[in-house]
Amino acid sequence: MQYQVAFNIEDFMANYWQQQPCLLKQGMQAFIDPLSAEELAGLAMEPEIQSRLVTSRGQQWQAELGPFENFDLLGDSHSSLLVQGVDHWHPEVAKLAEAFQFIPNWRFDDVMVSYSTPEGGVGPHIDQYCVFIIQGEGKRHWRVGKKQMLKEFAPHAKLKHCEAFDAEIDVILEPGDVLYIPPGCPHEGYAVEPAINYSIGFRAPNAKDLLSGFADYLLRHDLSSKRFADPKRSATQEFGRIAENDSLALNKLMQGLLNSPEATAQFLGEHLSENAHSSDIVVLIGSEDELGYSELHACMEQGIALTRCAGIKALYLDVLPYQIFVDGQAYAIPNCSWALAKTMCDKSVVDSYSLRAFDKDSKQLDWLIDLVNAGYWYFDGQCDE
Ligand code: SIN
Ligand code: CO
Repeated sequence: MQYQVAFNIEDFMANYWQQQPCLLKQGMQAFIDPLSAEELAGLAMEPEIQSRLVTSRGQQWQAELGPFENFDLLGDSHSSLLVQGVDHWHPEVAKLAEAFQFIPNWRFDDVMVSYSTPEGGVGPHIDQYCVFIIQGEGKRHWRVGKKQMLKEFAPHAKLKHCEAFDAEIDVILEPGDVLYIPPGCPHEGYAVEPAINYSIGFRAPNAKDLLSGFADYLLRHDLSSKRFADPKRSATQEFGRIAENDSLALNKLMQGLLNSPEATAQFLGEHLSENAHSSDIVVLIGSEDELGYSELHACMEQGIALTRCAGIKALYLDVLPYQIFVDGQAYAIPNCSWALAKTMCDKSVVDSYSLRAFDKDSKQLDWLIDLVNAGYWYFDGQCDE
């Protein structure tokens, strides 16, 4: 199934994205749930998938982290099961996220899916991320306030709530409705009837994390950096003082590192392509299915589509020398296969037509073989030699 939004994207970006919450009534075209509550429960049993069960019986908030062996806690009412990174494990849920590819991949975080019994929800809270909440089966009552500072507190060690707020949006979502909530807007949602919600979440790096990541990058790659030098210093009378010109010179020294477009681009590619959630990757290296040139050419010859493993981030900057970044690693791409590499980052599936158009005789496809053998892409079908 191909999912599509049914709202005006230009209008949404100009007036709402990162600015104000909005209800996109029937924002998904002919919406059909990509997964069932049973499938969600199955995912919540897996140790590598993050899940939570939140209950609020008798005003008493409780939260348990998965993996779950049973769902005794999930009562007939007042409970919610939430599973993170579902797009990494469920290709149909990954397809749902594709409807939101008008925002670049480096901004995308994951799809969180929740199943709530009547009155179930996680309580009033504020997220630092922005999210599109899609209503799947059932109905849920949502309240969203405008961006504001509110007192926050923990009604349970694993939950953070905010104080009561006035709602700008107060609505009962029905299947196919979409709620957009920018960072900092308080919100709360309680199921009216058993309900599934899909949260398409976006992240925004903060400057502090970027800087510390950049420092790690410099250390990891052992990049030489300039050392402070002060050959024309005059003698000081103030032994304890860091003089203003010294502090400015030290600041300039630090900024010099950030002013290297090559180093920062390389860092951003590696850093932003790192996966925050585990994925269903099947590594072929050393297995009998390991791909070589003859198998690769056979797949291309037979027109088998090349699919990116669900949830894998593949990014590029479109500057020379060409490279793509996958799961924190850079892969050098020869100029002759750049068009293919870009398509592989932009599209989840490279169809047989695009692959056929590619020069199959090229011997410069080691990078593609490496990516397939690492499990990041796969040929969707049997390639017979
Ligand atoms: C949900 O309960 O489905 C979404 C939770 C949230 O508001 O972040
Ligand atoms: Co939230």
